[in-house]
Amino acid sequence: THLALCCTAEDFQAAAKAVLPNKSWVYVSSSANSGASLDSNLNDWSLINFRPRIMRSVSALNTKCSILGQTGQYPFFVSAMGTLGNAHPGAEPLLARGATRKGLHTVISTATSKSLEDIMDAHLDEQQRLKNQSPSKLFFQLYVPIDRTKAKSLIQRVKAAGYQSLWVTVDTSTLGKRTADRYLQAQEALDQGVRETTRDPAAENDFGPAFGGRPVPGYLDPGLTWEDLAWISREWNGPVVLKGIQTVEDVRLAVQHGVQGVLLSNHGGRQIHSAPSALMTLLEIRTYYPEAFDKLEIYVDGGLRDGADVLKALCLGATAVGVGRPYYYAMAAYGLEGVERCTDIIAEELEITMKMLGVSSLDQLRPEMVNATRLLNE
Ligand code: FNR
Repeated sequence: THLALCCTAEDFQAAAKAVLPNKSWVYVSSSANSGASLDSNLNDWSLINFRPRIMRSVSALNTKCSILGQTGQYPFFVSAMGTLGNAHPGAEPLLARGATRKGLHTVISTATSKSLEDIMDAHLDEQQRLKNQSPSKLFFQLYVPIDRTKAKSLIQRVKAAGYQSLWVTVDTSTLGKRTADRYLQAQEALDQGVRETTRDPAAENDFGPAFGGRPVPGYLDPGLTWEDLAWISREWNGPVVLKGIQTVEDVRLAVQHGVQGVLLSNHGGRQIHSAPSALMTLLEIRTYYPEAFDKLEIYVDGGLRDGADVLKALCLGATAVGVGRPYYYAMAAYGLEGVERCTDIIAEELEITMKMLGVSSLDQLRPEMVNATRLLNE
């Protein structure tokens, strides 16, 4: 496919499938169990309708959005993804450059194929090239190493490198059952003439093929608890976001533990089967704990593919949204240009929709601008 023929963020998926080695394709596109979590991520956004208002001047449009005090060009950011080295040899530095060019914030995964310092260097180099005109920042997603000494030194490195906030992933006490990866492994084993296979749980995970299909030893701590937040916050000494919150109860606990943000997420449908979509969790918070929106920033990710859907999330109280796979796919198929175009596509949809919704800046978005009854009454 020619890049010019990619007119929606979804279009990058087919383009990536055509160029990616099968193993990488299966890894990025796969989801937990039957795929139900992924399906509702993708479908739930379309169950919300807008209530557009007319004849409100939208001549001067402003899409700027602050995440924990960092104002970026748009209310969406790139969600943390490991193994980007399988998408493109430029990996995370290339993603960082593309996002920086567009003023987009990016969450860099713990499971990178380049060092966190090299990724920051690429971002800063691009900043300099743009004469520091880009508002883009890098954030760091932390998988907490089991070894606390290692955890602390990793946090110190992240701090020293200049990442702006720490996004601690809390939905990965173990790895989800990635069904498509299982089929692929089983087939490979059969092809090699092995009759009885014992599953290697290390082979499918978010540290993925970039690490030879092995997890970084000592990550994914099933013993992680709320108490750990104290030393993590102390070491980090900056804004902390919990990534992977799926209930209003855990939002309450997050507030009690003094974190600055929560990312409502089910890990792109890759972890627990029959997970709530972030949209369902967002609605749950609106119903049972509306004060939360004044106490911390609430982000959502999972299945967001259209600038219009970004606005739905914001109307319902989200500060910003994360976009995952489309960026992986865009990078795989078109490298740097893909990252830029993916951003332009979502940004254009956002701007078109803002105009027809009757808002000229994001602070004008209100819950009355959407109708969620199809989700609430079922
Ligand atoms: C992820 N995700 C993820 N999350 C995280 O906290 N650390 C990680 O290393 C990764 N790695 C990763 C790899 C790949 C290939 C995918 C697809 C996802 C989850 C990610 O941050 C995000 O929650 C989802 O991708 C959002 O859903 P969409 O936009 O992909 O539908």
